[in-house]
Amino acid sequence: MKLWGGRFQDETAGSVNSFNSSLSFDFELYPYDLKGSRVHVKMLARQQIISEDEKEKILTGLDAVENKLDGAREEGKIPWQAEDIHTLIEELLTAEIGSLAGKMHTARSRNDQVALDIRLYLRNQIDEIQLGLVELLELFCELSARHLETILPGFTHLQPAQPVTLAHHLLAHAQRLNRDLERLQDCRGRVNICPLGAGALAATTFNIDRQWVAKKLGFSRPSANSLDTVGARDFLLDFHHCSLSILLNLSSLAEEIIIWNSPEYNFIELDDSVATGSSIMPQKKNPDIAELIRAKTGRISGNYQQLAMVIKGLPLAYNKDLQEDKESLFDSVNTLKQVLKVLPVFLRGIKFNPQKMEEALSRGHLNATELADYLSAQGLPFRQAHQLAGKAVNYALSQNKGLEEMSLTEFKELFPEESEKLKPELIDRLQPLNAIENRTTLGGPAPSRVAEQLNSLKDNLDKNRKK
Ligand code: ARG
Repeated sequence: MKLWGGRFQDETAGSVNSFNSSLSFDFELYPYDLKGSRVHVKMLARQQIISEDEKEKILTGLDAVENKLDGAREEGKIPWQAEDIHTLIEELLTAEIGSLAGKMHTARSRNDQVALDIRLYLRNQIDEIQLGLVELLELFCELSARHLETILPGFTHLQPAQPVTLAHHLLAHAQRLNRDLERLQDCRGRVNICPLGAGALAATTFNIDRQWVAKKLGFSRPSANSLDTVGARDFLLDFHHCSLSILLNLSSLAEEIIIWNSPEYNFIELDDSVATGSSIMPQKKNPDIAELIRAKTGRISGNYQQLAMVIKGLPLAYNKDLQEDKESLFDSVNTLKQVLKVLPVFLRGIKFNPQKMEEALSRGHLNATELADYLSAQGLPFRQAHQLAGKAVNYALSQNKGLEEMSLTEFKELFPEESEKLKPELIDRLQPLNAIENRTTLGGPAPSRVAEQLNSLKDNLDKNRKK
């Protein structure tokens, strides 16, 4: 069956039919298409555009159609051919209730219908993805709470820089993902607007009730401009951006896990249940999962580009190009859901190695800033303090020891002019954990501040769970 055969005299070529058809991928949308049709039909009856009896017959017919579609989904095969899911549903409904099925499409076009379907689909998926992110963030909180006092080098340029705590480090990743959660919420707001009633492009002459439909379908409001509504896909682009941001952030996390797992770092060990081996090198224990997550960023980024190129330069209203908005969307949604499912399992399979982390602190003089800060707090201009601390690093290097292992006498001999500024407390200040504990400014790594950060993130997640 075709929804548009009236003016055509000749058959469509087979290759044209198959090239034009989206059924192989938009079949995924059938639950949303049915949901939208049911509400649309109820509205038509409320507005007396169709009769109560017609409404009942259509709704009963749609239940039977749903059974058939569920069956096909379970089988994993689509035993029908049709231009798209909207056409198929009307065709199956016609088989159930005859020509009355044609009334379902009164005051509606596939253009506003498909926009509705993808908005309903995406809203659902965003809710699931948000839940996945919340669960991931809760895991970060759980791990951080255990490591408020585990110390390790913080890096800039991947060079050991200053000591931080593992909790602070993990929460840095969590803060990024928390912003992704907020971004998704913002995106959801723009997805959650009802397109139904926009018709093909110029709305309809029927006395429909768009407010009622929007409310029934859980949307915040009906869209404002019919011409814009049927061609707008920027809400999908927003989603692609959110997905890309999540994957970019996770790719950084994955990269660190890979580095930390290398024998050169040895900061973590992977449980057998989350590691993989090599077919030739028996000694290997590989972080494949982290590598795959890092690589998935590529396809998510590709999907973003794909949609951007589909909508580039499109004239207003619906163009068939928009049929090409779906596969990349489904792929990003499915990829994200897979990643969010495996990542918590993988993270739980990581054993942190605090001893190795602490040992790494003794290489690289990470407390040099601490020494410079101390001297400058004693009244030296910071630039001069920095110079002297550099000199101390040189000296410590020549003695093959850490700054915290130097004695007060050594410091005094090294900086004779400043000797009265050097108090025994300096040696204490240079111990890595003390160096961290003194960094109590807002957002800093001191365990007290990190505990604050952790609590406020947890509160935020609790609110998210309740909404
Ligand atoms: N399969 C189409 C799509 O995904 C549905 C809308 C078709 N509209 C049309 N006027 N041909 O975009």
